[in-house]
Amino acid sequence: MNNIIIKNAAQVVTCSGFEGKRGAEMSNLHVIENGTVIVTDGIISHVLKKGEAIPIDVSGYKEIDATGKALLPGFVDPHTHFVFGGHREEEFSWRMRGDSYMSIMERGGGIVNTTKATREASEEELYNSAKRRLDDMLELGITTVEGKSGYGLDKDTEMKQLRVMRKLNEDHPMDIVSTFMGPHATPAEWKGREDEFIDFNINEMLPLVAKEKLAECADIFCEENVFTIEQSRRFLTAAREHGFLLKLHADEIVQFGGAELAGELKVLSADHLLQASDEGIKAMADNGVVATLLPLTAFSLKEEYARGRDMIDANCIVALATDLNPGSSHTASAPLLFAIACIYMNLSPEEAVTAYTINSAAAVNRADTVGSIDVGKQGDMILLKYPSYKFLPYYVGMNCVETVIKKGLVVKS
Ligand code: NIG
Ligand code: FE
Repeated sequence: MNNIIIKNAAQVVTCSGFEGKRGAEMSNLHVIENGTVIVTDGIISHVLKKGEAIPIDVSGYKEIDATGKALLPGFVDPHTHFVFGGHREEEFSWRMRGDSYMSIMERGGGIVNTTKATREASEEELYNSAKRRLDDMLELGITTVEGKSGYGLDKDTEMKQLRVMRKLNEDHPMDIVSTFMGPHATPAEWKGREDEFIDFNINEMLPLVAKEKLAECADIFCEENVFTIEQSRRFLTAAREHGFLLKLHADEIVQFGGAELAGELKVLSADHLLQASDEGIKAMADNGVVATLLPLTAFSLKEEYARGRDMIDANCIVALATDLNPGSSHTASAPLLFAIACIYMNLSPEEAVTAYTINSAAAVNRADTVGSIDVGKQGDMILLKYPSYKFLPYYVGMNCVETVIKKGLVVKS
């Protein structure tokens, strides 16, 4: 039975809400001091203030004394590429020597390099390596993760990646939201025929992935020398017709109009946004697009950080994600994510927590079930070793998470 009572937490950081929060709302975490939370059958059944009587019989419930510790919703990571074959440690050294991410990609490295290794890997090998990454993320308090295909770039391998995610969603405590990202790069066999490759993704891949119900969202790398605005609009419009929720890798390397396109199409989330223009930021705010920022990528590529502060001030719904992948951000370090978001992007600790809980849940269309400690939501919570959420950015790069509870079960202690 997934029944648990977590008693007398120094803070219950509820992040209360059922949709993404924008602008100034991101600062209010709805903290309850010395609170108690009860999970019944995996669902949060009671959130009690100090001194409130326990209204149900909790004999038989697992009990955790949370004195001196802060309780938060499990983190939701809304942008990763955690299923991949091989590694690219060589490219990392080249980048440290001064080569740029795009120049490596243009000479056949980058995404296409990982595509080769992913095509060669067996489904079991992909499953095992991805599972280890999920284990690492769970240790850091991440209880829901989004994962993308996009290292197959052909029918068989894209489907293989998506099946690995479906199986892990069944087998692993982590909840996985799958995204089809066929247009992640153009593989050698389609080089110079980008429009036709988009047609292939529209006419052959989208119907197949939809029919097999292997992904909820669709995504494209909209970037100079990758896919144009027009190709992105065409792919995303078709994806919407097949029932997919839309995501977009936008304005990562150059200012390209990706954020504007995200607003025009009212996509669920636009991600990266290092180079987003003022107009693009306004378009996202006006159209309810979640602006998902990936500070670990900017850090790893030694690029300027996205203008998170400006986006919040412009009333955007801002989320954070690790972007775990073998190239531009080979890390799922939630601790470092918090530190960078606060130290370099000028988010307050409160805004950063909102961005990695309820807002990141909104970025994967899960704000109704996870991302906050509210009655009726899934019992996904983390207990910190410290009495305040403020330790998350402050204990720089260190894991503050002591206990992870998934659907009312302790999965790490
Ligand atoms: O989100 N920018 C495009 N895609 C990934 C990187 C993938 C890779 O380098 O393997 C990203 O950064
Ligand atoms: Fe990405």
